[in-house]
Amino acid sequence: MGFKALCLGLFCALCASYIYITIPGNIEEYWKVIALFTVAKTCTFMDMCFENLGIMKHGDLISMIFSLDYTQPLSDENVTVTNTIFVDTLVRLYLPKRKSEIRRPAVIYIHGGGFCFGSFKQKAYDSLNRWTANKLNAVVVGLDYRLAPQHHFPAQFEDSFTAVKFLQDKILRKYGVDPTRICLSGDSSGGNLAAAVTQQVQIDLEIKHKIKLQALIYPILQIIDSCLPSHKENELGIILAKDLGIKLVSSYLTTDETVTQAMRRNQHMPLESRHLFKFVNWSTLLPKKYRKNHVYTEPVLGRHNYSLPALMDIRASPLLANDSQLQNLPSTYILTCQYDCVRDDGLMYVTRLQNVGVQITHDHIENGFHGALSFMVSPVYLRLGLRIKDMYISWLDKNL
Ligand SMILES: *[C@@H]1O[C@H](CO)[C@@H](O)[C@H](O)[C@H]1NC(C)=O
Ligand SMILES: *[C@@H]1O[C@H](CO)[C@@H](O)[C@H](O)[C@H]1NC(C)=O
Ligand SMILES: *[C@@H]1O[C@H](CO)[C@@H](O)[C@H](O)[C@H]1NC(C)=O
Ligand SMILES: *[C@@H]1O[C@H](CO)[C@@H](O)[C@H](O)[C@H]1NC(C)=O
Repeated sequence: MGFKALCLGLFCALCASYIYITIPGNIEEYWKVIALFTVAKTCTFMDMCFENLGIMKHGDLISMIFSLDYTQPLSDENVTVTNTIFVDTLVRLYLPKRKSEIRRPAVIYIHGGGFCFGSFKQKAYDSLNRWTANKLNAVVVGLDYRLAPQHHFPAQFEDSFTAVKFLQDKILRKYGVDPTRICLSGDSSGGNLAAAVTQQVQIDLEIKHKIKLQALIYPILQIIDSCLPSHKENELGIILAKDLGIKLVSSYLTTDETVTQAMRRNQHMPLESRHLFKFVNWSTLLPKKYRKNHVYTEPVLGRHNYSLPALMDIRASPLLANDSQLQNLPSTYILTCQYDCVRDDGLMYVTRLQNVGVQITHDHIENGFHGALSFMVSPVYLRLGLRIKDMYISWLDKNL
């Protein structure tokens, strides 16, 4: 009886989600994306129901679904794969079996999942890192970090930073890595962490060898303005809707619901943050093509008096670094997707890095959407996911 009721509930939720789904007509593999999106929406909906019924905590169901996709560290004919610990952080190491005449490059990959979900163990990340190791004959490290809402900023940043530093100090020589050929990569929240860690590594006097490259795939780069054109255009975005994005990002910072609500109204920043808005001013930093007819409005500041220094911290919002800090950055790859709530974060970083003369490669996918890289292995692969993978790996191959 209980099982039948659950099935019926699930069926109704699927139908309801389907009815509310609209996706842009130029999306590739339209029906496959609709199906994926319906399932994703149903899961978020069920998660909310379970929370309201007191069966589970918010996010528990989604974490459970993510963990179904986790893989074991399995070596293959080309790559030796092991899980190990860097300081306190769990990592997965991919060591190519092929001989190398010269010292190998290394790639550190930080996974996405809105700071709340995910792991390098997910099938898509495992394949991506394995491919990278094999194709580039590189040592690849998949990083995990403590997740929100159990852990808040700066835990996620610190885990990533500490692991990167440990790798530089203790690990590279052991595996014959050339310390001048290291790339730090990540997607979505992992792109945020990769960008923040790269900024800090470049100015850290204790770290001798700097990062050679950073690759940011549809990264989240700021949390101070939640009213960008991309937020407005993708309010009901595929996979990542604006509301969900705000919920995840605010969980990264705090458990205080007031902050989440204030972010939804774009009234979450304190008075003393006024000087930071020039760094995320989309009316000057966004190419005309993306500004369209949107009208810039000044943010409402000082509406709330909670104290949350993380809101103004460049380690949470790498876009808040000033021009002299950005000048230190290495050659950069940024991939943005048109149908992505956080698209403009990436686009503004491109402009800011170009303005200070950092070498940058920017790929924009007109019919792309946030999170597609997670769909590139069977049974749920999309051509878009495979395309993103190929673009990223071929850039690495040319530049690392
Ligand atoms: C090993 O590498 C070769 C050459 O790149 C490739 O064709 C093969 O599919 C790889 N094997 C696995 C298990 O990935
Ligand atoms: C943003 O840029 C516009 C000009 O395009 C300017 O009028 C506005 O004052 C700027 N706002 C901030 C906070 O920098
Ligand atoms: C600031 O916080 C205090 C204590 O939480 C509260 O009593 C006061 O009304 C708040 N002021 C504003 C302007 O929100
Ligand atoms: C940029 O920020 C750094 C660190 O906060 C500061 O030391 C420096 O003076 C700033 N530079 C400019 C030009 O504002």
